[in-house]
Amino acid sequence: MALLRVVDRDGVEHDVDAKTGLKIMENLRELDYGVAAICGGMCSCATCHVYVDPEWQARLPAMMSDERELLAELSHYQDNSRLSCQLEFTPELAGLRVTIAPDE
Ligand code: FES
Repeated sequence: MALLRVVDRDGVEHDVDAKTGLKIMENLRELDYGVAAICGGMCSCATCHVYVDPEWQARLPAMMSDERELLAELSHYQDNSRLSCQLEFTPELAGLRVTIAPDE
């Protein structure tokens, strides 16, 4: 377990004791204010869209082309957008701060 800081859609920040070794999406979908993750992590729905705090962006694995293509279609896309189902929550990411993106 490690600290994951999550800003919900109302702008409220929560300290979450999140499970390492799982996708960030798998931690977020357990929360009332988390993500829907409708496709279950198949990189096809984008309902796990989050914004990663800029200081953490370089510490995340690079995007694969399917993630990049799906994000590019979103109206709420930003430079720091990621699909949380494509990101494993490792112990090295303790303290990571993500913001749940608005619904499309
Ligand atoms: S859960 Fe569907 S794209 Fe991430």
